[in-house]
Amino acid sequence: MSALADRPAHPVVGIRAPHESAVLHVTGAAMYTDDIAAHTHGVLTAWPVQSTNAHARVTVDVTPAYDVPGVVRVLTADDVPGINDAGIKHDEPLFPSEAMFYGHALVWVLGETQEAARLGAAAVTVDYEPLPSLITVQDAIAAESYQGIARTVERGDAAAGLAGSARVFVGVTEFGGQEHFYLETHASLAVIDSEGQYFVQCSTQHPTETQEIVAHVLGISSNQVTVQQLRMGGGFGGKEMQPHGFAAIAALGAKLTGRPVRLRLNRTQDITMTGKRHPFHISWTVGFDDAGYLQALEATLTADGGWSIDLSEPVLGRALCHLDNAYWIPNVRAHGRIAKTNKTSNTAFRGFGGPQGVFLIEDILGRVAPALGIDPVELRQRNFYRPGQSTPYGQLVKDAERLPTIWNQLRDESDLDARRAEVAAFNASHPDVKRAIAMTPIKFGISFNFAAFNQAGALVHVYKDGSVLINHGGTEMGQGLHTKMMQVAATALGLELHQVRLAPTRTDKVPNTSATAASSGADLNGGAVKNACEQIRDRMAKVAGRMLGVDERDVRFSGGYVTGLGNIDQRLTFAEVAEAAYLQRVQLFAAGYYRTEGLHWNPDRMQGSPFKYFAYGCAVTEVEVDGFTGAYTLRRVDIIHDVGDSLSPMLDIGQIEGAYVQGVGWLTLEELRWDASDGPNRGRLQTQSASTYKLPSFSEMPAEFHVRLFENAREDGAVYGSKAVGEPPFMLAFSAREALREAVGAFGPAGHMVELGSPATPEAVFWAIEAARAAAAPSAETAEAAEPGTEAELASV
Ligand code: MTE
Ligand code: MOS
Repeated sequence: MSALADRPAHPVVGIRAPHESAVLHVTGAAMYTDDIAAHTHGVLTAWPVQSTNAHARVTVDVTPAYDVPGVVRVLTADDVPGINDAGIKHDEPLFPSEAMFYGHALVWVLGETQEAARLGAAAVTVDYEPLPSLITVQDAIAAESYQGIARTVERGDAAAGLAGSARVFVGVTEFGGQEHFYLETHASLAVIDSEGQYFVQCSTQHPTETQEIVAHVLGISSNQVTVQQLRMGGGFGGKEMQPHGFAAIAALGAKLTGRPVRLRLNRTQDITMTGKRHPFHISWTVGFDDAGYLQALEATLTADGGWSIDLSEPVLGRALCHLDNAYWIPNVRAHGRIAKTNKTSNTAFRGFGGPQGVFLIEDILGRVAPALGIDPVELRQRNFYRPGQSTPYGQLVKDAERLPTIWNQLRDESDLDARRAEVAAFNASHPDVKRAIAMTPIKFGISFNFAAFNQAGALVHVYKDGSVLINHGGTEMGQGLHTKMMQVAATALGLELHQVRLAPTRTDKVPNTSATAASSGADLNGGAVKNACEQIRDRMAKVAGRMLGVDERDVRFSGGYVTGLGNIDQRLTFAEVAEAAYLQRVQLFAAGYYRTEGLHWNPDRMQGSPFKYFAYGCAVTEVEVDGFTGAYTLRRVDIIHDVGDSLSPMLDIGQIEGAYVQGVGWLTLEELRWDASDGPNRGRLQTQSASTYKLPSFSEMPAEFHVRLFENAREDGAVYGSKAVGEPPFMLAFSAREALREAVGAFGPAGHMVELGSPATPEAVFWAIEAARAAAAPSAETAEAAEPGTEAELASV
C-alpha cells in the first residue's frame, strides 16, 4: 500500500456524515431484535423464574406451570442436549441447581403469549435451602472469597521508592459499579428450519461467541448456528458476554417446540439478572518527592466480580494497565484480585477496567494536592509522561508529547487561568455556594490485551451496476461503526457514500469475529473492509487501465468515476468499469482481513506492548456546589480529544459527548444499592428501575459544552490515520469529580484534604462539605491528625 493511495484525493472518510440510521432512529422506524421477533409468525415467548434468595440450593417444581392456559413448555436442566452452561469459562450453569444471586434465572417458561409465560413462571414453585452469602466486597475480602487469577504489575522497587519518598500517603479508595442501562434490553429470537439449522437474531456485541455458546448448549457444531445482529439499542460492554445464555434459551426452546422463540427481558429483569461495571476496593500507599513528583505506588485492587468470572480477568488486567493514566511513576507494585460475591456477574463496561485504574491515580492526586501545597493542575502536569518513558507494564508511551500539547491548548482555549481567578473571587464573596474548575488528562491504550482478538474480517461485493454491499464482523450499537465502515469502503473504492450499502452482521458471512469492543471496532473492521475494497479496486484498475489506455498504476478512483493520469478526455463511471470487469471474468467480490501487527503481551508477568497506540484527551469542568444541600450543577465543560484524523467528525464528537456524560453518571449520580441486611431480601438489588437508579438526563447536562477534536493528529498504522474513540473520553469525566472535590475543599481551610464518596451524589458531596467545615485547623498535617480514619500521611520529612 503506497502512502499516496492511503491518502485519497477526495476521501469520504473525514466528512461529517450523519449516522446511517439517524432517520430511522428519530422516526422510530429502526428495527431491533424484538421488533423482528414481534413480526415472526407463531413465535413463543420465554419468561424466567428468578431466585428470591442470594445463595441457596434450589428444588424446582415446574408441573403447576402446565396448568396455566397457554403454557407450552418449561425449559429445565434435563432438556439440555449439550453443555448446561452459558459462560465461556464454563462456570455459569444455564439452569442452576444452586441459586448464586438474588434474581438468578432458574428455569424458563415458554408461552403462547407473554402473559401466559409470565403466569406460568409465577406458578412454578421453588424450594430454597439457604447457603451463606457474601454481598459486599468487604465481606468477600474478609472471607477471602476470590475467583480467577490474581495479577501483579511491577516495575522498579516500590518499597524502596516509598522509603526514599519525602512525602508518603496511605489511603483507601472505593467506588461502586454502574448499570449499562442500554435502552434496548437483552433480546434474542431463535428460529429452527426444516434442516435443523438455527437462525438466531440477538442483541449481541459478540455474534461469534453467541454462536459458540448456542452450539455448546445444543451439542451441535458452529456451522449449524447462524447469529445475526442488525443493530443494538446500546451495548456499552453489557452485551459482550451476557447475551449468550439468553440466545441459548431461545434456541433450546426452538429445538424442543419446533417453533420460533422470543426472549426479551423487561427492565427489572435486565437490571437484576445481568452484570454491571465492576466496583473496586483499593488500598494504596503513594510517595512523592518534595517537588510533588510521584516516586512510588503500592496498591492492592480488589474487583467485585459477582457470582461468576465472566470478563473479570481482562477487566482487572486493563485496570492494572491504566492506574498510571498519564503519569510517570518510577516504582510501582500493583496487585489485583477478583472477589466472588453473590451478586450479578460483573462484566465489560465502557473502558473495560480502564476507568477503575484511572480512578485510583486521579483520586490520589486530587486528595493529596492540598497536603503537598501544589495546585492540582500543576501537580498533574508535572507528573506527565515524558517522551521516551514507558508504562509500568513496559510499553513505550508513543506520542507522549501529545498530552502536554493538548493540555496547554485546552488551558488556553478554555481560558482556564482567567476563569480560575474569577472562581476564586466568586468563592471569596459566597460563603454558602462554591465553584471550582478542574482539569484532568486521559491516556488510554487501544487494542485487546488478548492478542488473538486483534483481527477482523469483511466481505465486500461490487455488483455489475457498480453498487457496493459490505459485510463486516463488527456490530452496530449506536456508536456509528457501520457509517464509518461505509465511509471507509467509499473512500477505498473512490465512490460517493450513497453508492455503498451495508448488510447486517452475520456469522455466516464473516466467521470467527471478535467482540465489537475495546473501542477497536473501526480500527479492526475498517482494516478488513479497506483490504477487501483494495483487492477489488486493484483488479478493476487493470480493466480500467486498458479502457483508458493508461498504466494500471495511473488509474484513479474518485467520486464515483474512474480516470487515468494523462488522459484528460475520458472519464468512466465506476459502474462502467464494474460491468466491463464482469464481462472479462474479473472477480468483483473479496474477503478482507486485518490483523494488528506489533503487539506482544505476557499476561502472567503483565509485561509487554499490548497496545497499538494510545488515545489522548483532556477535559476542563467547572461546577457550582450548594453548601446547604450538596446539590451541584456543571456550569461548563471544555474538551479536546485525540481521535487521530477523524473518520467521521460528527460521530466522533457525539461519542465524546456521550462518553463524558456517561462517565459523569458513573462518578456522580448512578448508585447501585444492594440489600446487605440479614433479612429476607438479602442480596436484592434495590435500585431496579429508572425511578430509583438516577441516570444523567437533560437536566444534568453541562450548561456549556465545548468539544473539539485535536487537529493534525494522524495516527500512522490505523485506518486512514484515525484513532479509536468509543471508550477513552468516558474518563474525561474525572474532571467533573475533581471539580466537585475542589469546590468542597473551598468550604474548608486551605490544605484540607477532601475525601469524596463515590458516586459523588449530592448526599456524598454534602457530607464532604460537612467534613471540610469541621476541619478547624489550618494546616494539612493537623487536619490529617484531626481526622483519623481518612488518609493519614505517614511521613513528612
Ligand atoms: N456508543 C453508543 N451510542 N452505544 C454503545 O453501546 N458502546 C461503547 C462505545 N460507544 C457504545 C457506544 C463501547 S463500550 C465500546 S467498546 C465502543 O463503542 C464499541 O464500538 P467501536 O469499537 O466501534 O468504537
Ligand atoms: Mo466496550 S466495554 O469494550 O464493549
